[in-house]
Amino acid sequence: MNKDFLALSDWNREDLERIFDLTRELKAKQKRGEEHHLLKGKTLGMLFEKSSTRTRVSFEVGMYQLGGHALFLSSGTTQMGRGEPIKDTGRVMSRYVDGIMIRTFSQEAVEELARCSDIPVINGLTDMYHPCQVMADLFTVIEHKGSFRDLSYCWIGDGNNMANSWINAAAVFGFELRIATPKGYEPHPTVVERAQKLGANILYTNDPLKAAKGAMVLNTDVWASMGQEQEQKEREKAFVGFQINNDIVAAADPQCVVMHCLPAHRGEEITDDVIEGPHSIVFDEAENRLHVQKAIMATLMA
Ligand code: CP
Ligand code: NVA
Repeated sequence: MNKDFLALSDWNREDLERIFDLTRELKAKQKRGEEHHLLKGKTLGMLFEKSSTRTRVSFEVGMYQLGGHALFLSSGTTQMGRGEPIKDTGRVMSRYVDGIMIRTFSQEAVEELARCSDIPVINGLTDMYHPCQVMADLFTVIEHKGSFRDLSYCWIGDGNNMANSWINAAAVFGFELRIATPKGYEPHPTVVERAQKLGANILYTNDPLKAAKGAMVLNTDVWASMGQEQEQKEREKAFVGFQINNDIVAAADPQCVVMHCLPAHRGEEITDDVIEGPHSIVFDEAENRLHVQKAIMATLMA
C-alpha cells in the first residue's frame, strides 16, 4: 500500500475501494455515536498555503473524532512562508507529528514533501489535483445511486485540479466521463495522456450540451481557482455557456445528481436554482469530506 495520498493515479482500485468500505463503517459509527478512536494519541499537521473552509474543518474534526489531534499551520505564520525549504519542513515535521495534510500550489512541492517525510502526506489540494474531494464525490454517488460504476459522469467548466482528479478517477475505476471545457481551458495534457494510455473512456469536447446528454452525474467548479483571481474577468468571458443550469439538467438523465465541490459562485458556473434544486447533492458531498478523509487518515496513519 502507498505511504501517501497525493493523487488518485498513484492508487489502485482495490485499495481505493477499501477506503470506501472503511468510510461507510466510520460514518455509521459516527452517526450512532459510537467511539472509533483509530488514531488515538496521534497528531496531524495541516499546512495551508491557500484558504479553506471544508478541508480545514473536516480534517481537524476528523482527527478529533478518531481520538487524535490536528494542528493548523498557515504559511503566513510558519517558517514555510519565510522560505524554509520544504524538505527541511518535512524532516522536522516527521519528528513531531504522525501525518501531514498540505494544501499548496505546486504538486511537485507536495511530492517533495512526501519524499522527505517519514510519515504519510495527504494532498489537500494543489493546482494539479484535489484527490480527497473526488473520493468524497464518489462516495456520495455510491450513497445516492447504490454504486458509482456503470454511470456516466459529466464535467462542465474549467479543466482544473478537480477535472484532473476526475480524469484520474475515470482511469482507475473505468467509468465513462465526458469533459466540456472552453477552448484553451482543457485539463492538463500529462493527465489526459496517462489516462488515454490506461484506456480510460473519456470524451473531451467544447460542447456542454453534448457532454451532459443522458449523464447521471453533473459536476462543475469555479471558473477561476485559487491563485487565478487576476484572470476572473477574462475567464467570465471565456466560460459563457459553461454553466450548469436548468437546460443542462434537462439534457441529462431525469434521475441525475448535480455536484459541486464548493465554494460556488452562483450565477457563474452554476445557477442558484440548480444548486438549491431537487437534483443537487452538494451538501451531502461536503459532509462526506469528513467521513472519507477519516478513512484515508486511518488507512495511512493507524
Ligand atoms: N471543496 C473544498 O476543498 O473546500 P475548501 O476550499 O473550503 O476547503
Ligand atoms: N478549483 C478550486 C477548488 C476549490 C476547492 C480551486 O482550486 O480554487
